[in-house]
Amino acid sequence: MVYDYIIIGSGVAGLNAARLIPKTKKVLILCKKEPWECNTFYAQGGIATAVDKEDIPLHIKDTMVAGVFHNDKRAVTVLSENSRASIDNLIHDGLKFDLNAKGELAFTKEAAHSRSRILHADGDATGRMLHLFLMGKFPHRLETNCVVNDLLIQDDICYGVKYFVSETEEKIAYAHNTIIASGGVGSIYKYHTNSTTVAGEVQGICLEKGLILKDMEMMQFHPTVFKGTSYARKTLLSEALRGEGAYIVDENNYRFLFDYHKDGELAPRDVVSRSIFDYHQKTGHKIFLSFDKFDKNYFRKRFPNIYATFNDFGYDLPFEKVPISPAFHYSMGGIATDLNSKVLNMKNLYAVGEAACTGVHGANRLASNSMLEGIVFSKLAVNYSLKNDFKINEKEYTKEIKYYIRNKEIDKKIKDRVRRLMWESAAIVRDFKSLQKALDEINDFLKEDVGRLLFLRLLTAKSILKAALDRKESLGAHFIKEN
Ligand code: SIN
Repeated sequence: MVYDYIIIGSGVAGLNAARLIPKTKKVLILCKKEPWECNTFYAQGGIATAVDKEDIPLHIKDTMVAGVFHNDKRAVTVLSENSRASIDNLIHDGLKFDLNAKGELAFTKEAAHSRSRILHADGDATGRMLHLFLMGKFPHRLETNCVVNDLLIQDDICYGVKYFVSETEEKIAYAHNTIIASGGVGSIYKYHTNSTTVAGEVQGICLEKGLILKDMEMMQFHPTVFKGTSYARKTLLSEALRGEGAYIVDENNYRFLFDYHKDGELAPRDVVSRSIFDYHQKTGHKIFLSFDKFDKNYFRKRFPNIYATFNDFGYDLPFEKVPISPAFHYSMGGIATDLNSKVLNMKNLYAVGEAACTGVHGANRLASNSMLEGIVFSKLAVNYSLKNDFKINEKEYTKEIKYYIRNKEIDKKIKDRVRRLMWESAAIVRDFKSLQKALDEINDFLKEDVGRLLFLRLLTAKSILKAALDRKESLGAHFIKEN
């Protein structure tokens, strides 16, 4: 059987595509683990939108300024012009955003936004609410524990996907359209805020097939993650906290960020992360997020999940400050697409959400534009593909189908080394020597007989390092220190 669509991934972009594909179509959604193991589920702050027509030019400008004008302005315009209608469509379908005392949508502010335009749900669990909402909104088949390990690509057509369903068993599914919505690269880094399922393997497949990946050096580090745990996945302290009055101090309660940027805590994310890193390097001081401007009742109502999580960690918010540091958060780069989310040079392959590089984020993503991008560009992918109505003939796929070994004994050690290498080289502050050394090691690992999933991760890591080495000047999140 040939599906009309295969969707790889169950975050906001994949599930919104699933919601919008008509019931009459045969659709298969493949989740790497359980459906909630995606970055959307962990997203706290919210979804940005141009509030109204007048706000569109301002939202475009804020997005471009944060992105250091490395953005594709056409894509930013598409994002902003489609934002409010896409949000209204979700509301119309039953999604409940938080309301203010007057019963109107409660827009909040986050760093580098020139006005309040972020919608949130369940206070500070916007991603979780959106994910649960979307999970109830599609009539299609979803399979868990399916780890995609190949795309069946011949010439400019994608015939379908191959995936592991266990340690040793693989399956093939054919489709007229394939939508990649598998997220970014978080687990390639030692410390990150992502779901541990997100490791850039599908990007690796695309590299292997000769597809174009763009802006892979542009990696975003979130400034405020909790420093008090030793796990790779770090707990986020949402940007919305700073948008509403939380501030960053050193151990003497000094607000040092104003020494770096006039907007202090509300400067663009790359600036805040880099400033924290630099200040800590220079002074050795511990860095904290302080909440003492908040009224206790307001804080606990507005940020109930952060309050409860940190209560479990032993912090009484908003009365105590929390130790923080930056950690990897988001990949601005990815599989290059056109304005309909179609992968460049392909007829029936789409990429949406963090896996894609539409060009909207430039060199540094504006806070809360990611779930918006997922919603807007998944809709465009569905609209275009329905109109295009491309049909494959699976018998025309004549390439040899390779079978793979998922994991090998040697993988664990290399995986840990790669995560450390990436953390230390393709980092908040970079230098060419460390980048080259990391690339040399990755090239050596690529000569080893590793499992398929690690091999794909290595290809993706290599593309990040190569892109970082190729960009000689600092730009946004790509900050080069003189050697
Ligand atoms: C956050 O809540 O700070 C994350 C929002 C984002 O990454 O845009």
